[in-house]
Amino acid sequence: MLNDWNPDSWRNRVALQQPRYADPAALARAVGELSGLPPLVTSWEIDELRRQLAEAAEGKRFLLQGGDCAESLSECRAEPITNKLKVLLQMSLVLVHGGQRPVIRVGRFAGQYAKPRSEDMETRDGVTLPSYRGDIVNRPAFTEADRRPDPELLLRGYERAALTLNLIRALSSGGFADLHHPENWDLDFIESSQLALEYRRIVSSIGESLRFMEHVLGVRTGGLEKVDFFSSHEGLHLEYERAQTHQQNGRWYHLATHFPWIGLRTADIDGAHVEYFRGLQNPLGLKIGTITTPEILKRLLDRLNPDHQHGRITLIHRFGTAKIDSHLPALIAAVRETGHRPLWVCDPMHGNTITTSEGFKTRPFEAILSELEQAFEIHASAGGSLGGVHIELTGDNVTECTGGARGLAEADLKRRYRTEVDPRLNGEQALEMALSIARKMRSL
Ligand code: PEP
Ligand code: CO
Repeated sequence: MLNDWNPDSWRNRVALQQPRYADPAALARAVGELSGLPPLVTSWEIDELRRQLAEAAEGKRFLLQGGDCAESLSECRAEPITNKLKVLLQMSLVLVHGGQRPVIRVGRFAGQYAKPRSEDMETRDGVTLPSYRGDIVNRPAFTEADRRPDPELLLRGYERAALTLNLIRALSSGGFADLHHPENWDLDFIESSQLALEYRRIVSSIGESLRFMEHVLGVRTGGLEKVDFFSSHEGLHLEYERAQTHQQNGRWYHLATHFPWIGLRTADIDGAHVEYFRGLQNPLGLKIGTITTPEILKRLLDRLNPDHQHGRITLIHRFGTAKIDSHLPALIAAVRETGHRPLWVCDPMHGNTITTSEGFKTRPFEAILSELEQAFEIHASAGGSLGGVHIELTGDNVTECTGGARGLAEADLKRRYRTEVDPRLNGEQALEMALSIARKMRSL
């Protein structure tokens, strides 16, 4: 236990990216109610995830973390949630096959409702309103009423997170997630794609191994009918995070998600976010990018994990395909000098965002894949290994990122461009990405 930390010590620090509520009493009421609601996850699950992440840092497991850039309250419906799960399950099967090690499945879901923004205010046609900060803060439509931060949305978000997690837990604990029945995870629109063949080959090879073990060798493969899914979100809205902070056996846990991460914009060593998260037991993600110097990174590791606990820190790097090569090696070398042994994960999405001439934010599939492939190579040539990937994706058939096997062009984006924030890989592109990653893993 840190004796200079308590779950409110962050209040003495500068908290970036927080909404300004007009009515503090209404905020206090909502936060008070939130703190009395039951937790979404347990400390035992959190400890188990941390143990698995420690193994991933040793190269014995691989992390697949994926989901929407921002969840929306209105998308808390069976179909998008199930589709997301299907894609993550398909991807994890492909990655298990490619990497020959267990995959830890973590969703960017059940609480990914708060977004950092580069500007506090947004101006359109001479009208200036607060920026959209995610569905637990305000609403995306550009009207004064929609953009006003509403404390009640904290409760709506928490309830939706609970509903989401409930469906995910039910689906992953039997039937649907059974490895003997991967046909449950098929997505209609992927059926017709060129990738289907490669994916089917992997599925049938795993199926054959299973049948061989069970029917020929008589080995009981218990546990294959269910899988573990863990939840994660950016720990951004500190009142929301604080409200679900609980002490158990003398240790503090954040119990609204298994795996929070600190975003790039709120990773100031003296800021409120680093202060809040340094006192928790949860495994913690830390986004790093071109603005992260070796010196800053060393200090952050010492601050967030002073006693070098295994599985505590996951470094999620996001440089962009043109910059990873000039930034990552120095950070790997600096971390090695400190003796810290974090898990290294590549987010190939956030450094590769461009805006088309028609004004759509997009990411070229080829740039995403190229950053990932470089990440594998750079870690390997430094004598370590890339331990996971962090991807913005959806199981739905959207057109937000260009490229991939179907060759989506910029002109195609307007067909089904649905995201309120960052562009996601659609189900087919996500599966193609997993097949490419698996090929890369086999080649190393
Ligand atoms: C995100 O993960 O959606 C995000 C905002 O990332 P970053 O903090 O890396 O910019
Ligand atoms: Co994003």
